[in-house]
Amino acid sequence: MTPELSQLFEFLRFPSISTDSAYSGDVRACAEWLQAKLSGMGLDAQLHETPGHPIVVAKNEHRDGVPTVMIYGHYDVQPVDPVELWDSPPFEPELRDGKIWGRGSTDNKGQMFAHVLGVEKALQQGELPVNLILLFEGEEEIGSKNLPAFLEAHRDELKCDVIAVSDTGMVAPGVPTMGYGLRGITCGEVLIKGPSGDLHSGVYGGSVMNPATAIGRVIASLHDADERVAIDGFYDDVRDLETWEREMWETVPFGEKQYLEETGAPAAVGEAGYSVKERLWARPTAEVNGVGAGYQGEGSKTVIASEAMAKLSFRLVPDQDPDDILRKVEAHVMKHAPEGVTVEFVPGHSGEPYLSDPNSEFGKAAQSALAETFGREPVLIREGGSIPIINTFKSILGADSLMLGLALPGCQIHAPNENFHVANFEAGIELNQLLLKKLAACSAK
Ligand code: BES
Ligand code: ZN
Repeated sequence: MTPELSQLFEFLRFPSISTDSAYSGDVRACAEWLQAKLSGMGLDAQLHETPGHPIVVAKNEHRDGVPTVMIYGHYDVQPVDPVELWDSPPFEPELRDGKIWGRGSTDNKGQMFAHVLGVEKALQQGELPVNLILLFEGEEEIGSKNLPAFLEAHRDELKCDVIAVSDTGMVAPGVPTMGYGLRGITCGEVLIKGPSGDLHSGVYGGSVMNPATAIGRVIASLHDADERVAIDGFYDDVRDLETWEREMWETVPFGEKQYLEETGAPAAVGEAGYSVKERLWARPTAEVNGVGAGYQGEGSKTVIASEAMAKLSFRLVPDQDPDDILRKVEAHVMKHAPEGVTVEFVPGHSGEPYLSDPNSEFGKAAQSALAETFGREPVLIREGGSIPIINTFKSILGADSLMLGLALPGCQIHAPNENFHVANFEAGIELNQLLLKKLAACSAK
């Protein structure tokens, strides 16, 4: 095993699950390990406390006249459940079939650590060509709760010209991919209450509204027969795709066939009139992420449950506003819940969509670094997933983000058997060094 891989394995062994307080000590230990690694490279590396998990920031010595580049990533990971579906333990990384298997291998430790090692290599060759700020947080998977306040408080020290992030996808192996947009998100929970307690479905059934039926009606009302979201005003602010995007995306080697292979779904179903790529990258959605009501155990139980719930999320595109959508969702839920139950809508977390110009001076430099690393021109895409802090970077620091995704189809992020191709880990190390050189040639603010 190369020394690079064995260091990544050390990093992957920390169970830095941000959402579960039982792992807070491991999250902290992971941050401390990262700080020690960055200090060992000769950077000024600090661990900043927050009301939640620590933020690690490292810098080289500032020079005037060269651009300041921030590299952002997250060292926290998703939970591992259902753990029995993993082929090897999630926090005991393994190398099999040219891939690194373990929680966080792709999202995001493997991708961010490739940047760290790229910086280390560049430092070994001499002074870095840019002013560098490495910023790694431990709360991305729980909505980056404490990062906006940290950015506000350290606005001056974190001032930068551009931000590089490898926390998104690559459309296919060997196809360099630059993301210039992300979907936003807003979430909420629908809680339905019927009778004051569970009822015998024979003795009482037929003359009370069953909460399970009621939640089913609410869910069914979210889409129309064309799979469009049926909430009044939902599409009001959706910006149309530009012609150059449609043309560019036609050339992206990804479509319905790969999508079906990757998902294992029997058919691609979505908003009528749009391709799979357009639906994923440029159209908003309504999704049910969880639903509960009634008896879930073996056999049957003749009961009318007194309560039902559904967890909903909405992926948003420019220029939809999460708060506005949340209000529209709430009004819709209230309108479509049948009589005979009470309904409550509990709003959850939100993040704004993001869109930038991939052909800005920095964007061109990133495309050229990608082209040189992978030996072909990159494709330019928007992403279906969300990284809400990217838009906050833009509003607080005024800097755009270059999304140099290294996550491949089949990488199983957030699921059992998450994996990262060794080839992409190595390419990421090289990409970082080229990127810093190319960004150095751009004009500093
Ligand atoms: N790295 C992902 C986001 C991602 C994955 C973007 C693949 C594009 C392609 C990130 O860690 C993530 O999971 N984000 C969450 C954000 C949410 C919790 C606010 C998401 O998209 O669900
Ligand atoms: Zn994630």
